[in-house]
Amino acid sequence: MSFWNEKYRSTSLTERSWTQLAPGPSLGIIESLVKDFGQAIIDLGAGSTRLIDDLLNVGYRDLTALDISQVALDELRGRVGEKAQYISESILEWIPTRRYHLAHDRAVFHFLNEVEEQRQYKKVLLSAVAENGFLVMGTFGPTGPEQCSGLPVTRWSEESLTDFFSPDFTLVESFDEIHRTPWGSEQNFTWVVLNRSK
Ligand SMILES: C[S@@+](CC[C@H](N)C(=O)[O-])C[C@H]1O[C@@H](n2cnc3c(N)ncnc32)[C@H](O)[C@@H]1O
Repeated sequence: MSFWNEKYRSTSLTERSWTQLAPGPSLGIIESLVKDFGQAIIDLGAGSTRLIDDLLNVGYRDLTALDISQVALDELRGRVGEKAQYISESILEWIPTRRYHLAHDRAVFHFLNEVEEQRQYKKVLLSAVAENGFLVMGTFGPTGPEQCSGLPVTRWSEESLTDFFSPDFTLVESFDEIHRTPWGSEQNFTWVVLNRSK
């Protein structure tokens, strides 16, 4: 936990590789999937993402940000206050107390390199995502970086992500994205939209 707190404490927005200075694909995907602004959406490993601000601006009312870093969540809360809900916990230890229509994960799942951690993540998702709900996930892709913030990552393809989450989730859509860091480096991301099929 202290690694990520320290990372957020010691860097500004433009010193974090994952910062999106221009909006990424997440907002448009979520708008296309969730037509009812009252439906529950959770961002897993949200950090201090501006996606929450954007979703609030569009009109979504039931937004939760989960992150292992309290510092990151405090930064987000400093901007949007109590319009969002916050869960300060590791996704691997989280016990969901309600179900969400959509779970979003950008650049978090790829930090789980052990099969046991990946399985635990999936188990948690199965109790967090409502039947017929969605998982929108972006990870480093096959030609993406091998590390982020000095930590090793697992790079995923559309096929390997789809295989891993099947048969409980089925593929709706997948695509590649090039994320440009605030200092101009390019990072290959794989995105999948998965439907909780049972
Ligand atoms: C690369 S950042 C991405 C942040 C955010 N999703 C975004 O797109 O701006 C990774 C985030 O995952 C969080 N994180 C790392 N491991 C986690 C875990 N086990 N449970 C919850 N959050 C975690 C970190 O604190 C950090 O905010």
